[in-house]
Amino acid sequence: MIGIFDSGVGGMTVARAIEQFCPGYPIIYFGDIARTPYGSKSPETIIGYSRNNTDFLLDRGAGLIVVACNSAASTASAALRLHYDVPVLDVIGPATRKAATISKSGRIGVIGTRATVKSGIYEQRLQALLPGARIFSRPCPLLVPLVEEGWLSRRETKMILRRYLHPLRREQIDTLVLGCTHYPLLKQLISPRIGRRVNLIDSSVEVALHVREFLHHNPELRARLQGNRAASRFFVSDCTAPVRQLAAKIFGREILLEKVKIP
Ligand code: DGL
Repeated sequence: MIGIFDSGVGGMTVARAIEQFCPGYPIIYFGDIARTPYGSKSPETIIGYSRNNTDFLLDRGAGLIVVACNSAASTASAALRLHYDVPVLDVIGPATRKAATISKSGRIGVIGTRATVKSGIYEQRLQALLPGARIFSRPCPLLVPLVEEGWLSRRETKMILRRYLHPLRREQIDTLVLGCTHYPLLKQLISPRIGRRVNLIDSSVEVALHVREFLHHNPELRARLQGNRAASRFFVSDCTAPVRQLAAKIFGREILLEKVKIP
């Protein structure tokens, strides 16, 4: 199974894209709703949670881990790769590659949680791919709770987005990386507020394409994952009505969310 985790529902945008671009592979998803958001926690805590989540997915048969959370990826992917001997893919590489390829002016904006922006990982990776690029990063800590609450088109959400995006708009970026897997759910609101000509990089699609490519080059793993005929399963450490509604919205169908306790 392809194991995917996030601090909440945002990673379901990645799970959905993987389901679409990599059909035939069962998915096991874990959303750590009880401990979300990760983005305002310390690196030690985020690494600890990420290890709990990975252990859970591996115990349930994952053969590949996708860190579908930028806060966890920017802080914990390296530690996970050292600790586990299964492949660990994440959202950052695919999103930065796409941004570097698509940006013409080299003026790229990045929005994410505090942990992601503080890690500086997008700047480092984008500078490495596109030397001389100007990167403008902005933490947007209020967006994850708004999405988890299902406030996807409220006036308050629009107002907060305008406040967050205004400084980036002034920098005349031509590309904006949605550096949090919750943000694709706000795409319709982000686009007019940053300027419709700005390319929005949605890491969910990019990571799904990367997983497909990775499996293409790893036939043994591919055969093992495809050989598993289990149905996809979605686990959460807590479950509320807005979470259920969001899951249904992301997948376009009802999703059975199974509540589990994580140590
Ligand atoms: N979806 C997570 C991310 O991509 C949300 C972060 C959080 O829990 O802070 O960063």
